[in-house]
Amino acid sequence: MIDMEVEIAGIKMKNPVTTASGTFGHGVEYAKYVDLNRLGAITVKAITLEPREGNPPPRIAETPSGILNSVGLQNPGVDTFIREDLPELIKYQVPIIVNVAGNTIEEYCQVVEKLNDLPIAAFELNISCPNVKHGGMAFGSDPHMIEKVTKKVKNRSKKPLIVKLSPNVTSIVDSAIAACDGGADALSLINTLLGMAIDAESRKPILKNITGGLSGPAIKPIALRMVYEVHKAVNIPIIGMGGIMTGIDAIEFMLAGATAVAVGTANLVNPTAVIDVIDGIYDYMQRHDIKSIKDIVGALSA
Ligand code: SIN
Repeated sequence: MIDMEVEIAGIKMKNPVTTASGTFGHGVEYAKYVDLNRLGAITVKAITLEPREGNPPPRIAETPSGILNSVGLQNPGVDTFIREDLPELIKYQVPIIVNVAGNTIEEYCQVVEKLNDLPIAAFELNISCPNVKHGGMAFGSDPHMIEKVTKKVKNRSKKPLIVKLSPNVTSIVDSAIAACDGGADALSLINTLLGMAIDAESRKPILKNITGGLSGPAIKPIALRMVYEVHKAVNIPIIGMGGIMTGIDAIEFMLAGATAVAVGTANLVNPTAVIDVIDGIYDYMQRHDIKSIKDIVGALSA
């Protein structure tokens, strides 16, 4: 028997694979491609207090081994999410993690309070989006602010709080410790790396917003290094992400110290990527005679 179950902040996941926020819509959009019940958890696109249209297009640019996005947290707002998206999503037997964003700490708290009594497994605190002027990375690049936002939201939350960290900092370990000090139950890392793309012919930036967040295989070595460093520094579980395309990529993150993993950009190239990653992990466990996936968490032999 192969046991793929893991636990993140009290959330039991039947396997260690969730979706990276922003790459899987609100989950139900993918139901025609994959059996959502097979996922370890579904992490939905960021939700804010009010609806947002996001940044003007173009807001996606392909790069070698990755994409840049400057979406700007487009979403229907928490009330519409509760009314239209959540009722469909909760029909599936899968824990739902809601990524929460806001312009101010109070906005984060109000979103959390509107969702507190609904069947959601956890909140993921988005203090790492690089595409907005307020909130997002502006909060997540200063350890004092990370601790403050985490503490305030944690006080108003009835669910476990997962803090999603930005890689656009000098020390992600300092960010991780600050989130722990604020009361985070788990961490997710990494969000995208700030970058830009230029069209030499027109001499213009490709993204209307000029800069955007880089994701995909190009960032995997950086994400692995950060998961490895954070795992050594803190005692709360980590959801690792950044360029995971295959089961073997996921295993690498778990060896570096992630208890669970999130599949992101891969969903945009292959709608069944998340299932392929679950199957790939299973295949690795069979080949290596691993009975419990928990046994490989942090099991890197250096
Ligand atoms: C976006 O909507 O701009 C991306 C979301 C994120 O980076 O958290």
